[in-house]
Amino acid sequence: MDPLQMACTGPRKKRARQMDTSMGSTQDIKFQDLVLFILEKKMGTTRRAFLMELARRKGFRVENELSDSVTHIVAENNSGSDVLEWLQVQKIKASSQLELLDVSWLIECMGAGKLVEITGKHQLVSIMVRGDCPASHDSSPQKTESAAVQKISQYACQRRTTLNNHNHIFTDAFEILAENCEFRENEGSYVTYMRAASVLKSLPFSIISMKDTEGIPCLADKVKCVIEEIIEDGESSEVKAVLNDERYKSFKLFTSVFGVGLKTAEKWFRLGFRTLSGIMNDKTLKLTHMQKAGFLYYEDLVSCVTRAEAEAVGVLVKEAVWAFLPDAIVTMTGGFRRGKKVGHDVDFLITSPEATEEQEQQLLHKVITFWEKEGLLLYCDLYESTFEKLKMPSRKVDALDHFQKCFLILKLHRECVDDGTSSQLQGKTWKAIRVDLVVCPYECRAFALLGWTGSPQFERDLRRYATHERKMMLDNHALYDKTKRKFLSADSEEDIFAHLGLDYIEPWERNA
Ligand code: CTP
Ligand code: MN
Ligand code: MN
Repeated sequence: MDPLQMACTGPRKKRARQMDTSMGSTQDIKFQDLVLFILEKKMGTTRRAFLMELARRKGFRVENELSDSVTHIVAENNSGSDVLEWLQVQKIKASSQLELLDVSWLIECMGAGKLVEITGKHQLVSIMVRGDCPASHDSSPQKTESAAVQKISQYACQRRTTLNNHNHIFTDAFEILAENCEFRENEGSYVTYMRAASVLKSLPFSIISMKDTEGIPCLADKVKCVIEEIIEDGESSEVKAVLNDERYKSFKLFTSVFGVGLKTAEKWFRLGFRTLSGIMNDKTLKLTHMQKAGFLYYEDLVSCVTRAEAEAVGVLVKEAVWAFLPDAIVTMTGGFRRGKKVGHDVDFLITSPEATEEQEQQLLHKVITFWEKEGLLLYCDLYESTFEKLKMPSRKVDALDHFQKCFLILKLHRECVDDGTSSQLQGKTWKAIRVDLVVCPYECRAFALLGWTGSPQFERDLRRYATHERKMMLDNHALYDKTKRKFLSADSEEDIFAHLGLDYIEPWERNA
């Protein structure tokens, strides 16, 4: 939204104007509809006086005292909670029209000589549990509860999580701790750490003090201890220990090979292996086809797939699919649909409104034979469909779906990639890329698309929400309402969110 418009909305606009004219000094004010108040707390008197003076010279109206006409509060080194608490002490209620902003916004505006758009990085957002929040005691219709003060859901499907993560320092730590639990098959702690990382990714502000964590769900005591340590020391001793742990390091290395899961990693670790070359040079170990391909193309597969490479794969997939089923709908799913710039593979969902069951079943076989003939197929693992109509959705949050699918490694020629650089190729004329193709019946397409777009954490919470909040069962094939005892059909992802009584969350907001 245009910042000017944003500042102008609501009843405050009129009030600000009236005050301006009554004071009779509107000539020097360039930004008529904004009334600023600069918070002294944590900023100090001198800097505040300097900023007030400067802002006035640059055409801002700046009040000395906090009054009802103020539209924007500007603070430095304060979190949203800090400002709200201060407002509460002043007996001022935060309203939806009152912007709480970091000083960086004002500085950017003054530098640009115009109002710069207010974004998440400028907004000081506070999280409070409903009932605690100062605005909720206000009965005045103009002063509704602040947009900045709202309860965060424990479910990722009720949060908007873009790739703009303000809390990397914490989420990186929790993802390492979660991975370590996964390697040790400690499911409970894995879920705890993943939920913590997920909720922190959705916050529109950075956590700078323990106060900022108040009212945020999914932060167990042991999670808070880690946050506190990182705030105080800049790092977590637990994470450090995990990163130095022999088992963690070996599992991380082994599972980076395509085809190696926890079981194999465990076996190799117990046999005393610690390096990949140790495994490759051992003649007694029996590797699966998948693992052989994993080692053969290791360097290419560990270097991430770029968006340009993903788009180039998209061209190959469409070309091959449309040669056999011209009406097929081919959609890139997974991380790239969520807007990620890199991925570990490229995922596609394929469906056709006209195809017969037989044509549908044959498609992947034809596509694979086509690529084999062209010399593009480096590895293929195809699973036939075990899909049955009207089968109850799975109760397990991590259950795999029953669609026909293949896990591939394709040869992507350098000249197909439209980025000119293809950095990782280094002399080679092609790169091995992991590709997942899924074919689903046309009636299932919305469920399959939702399921294959992820993120995995978003999917888990969608299913958990359906089960616990709606008495419904959701998986990649269908949605079943247990109360009405019927399947709910859907033509689009929007339909599924609507059935679940959820606000629609765009794919790029599902990076939970
Ligand atoms: N998925 C699934 N069934 C599988 C594998 C994956 O439903 N057998 C879904 C998961 O929900 C996941 C999405 O498909 O979110 C894509 O899976 P994956 O490629 O593993 O993850 P991405 O989110 O695409 O991440 P990356 O960029 O690492 O590929
Ligand atoms: Mn993927
Ligand atoms: Mn995938």
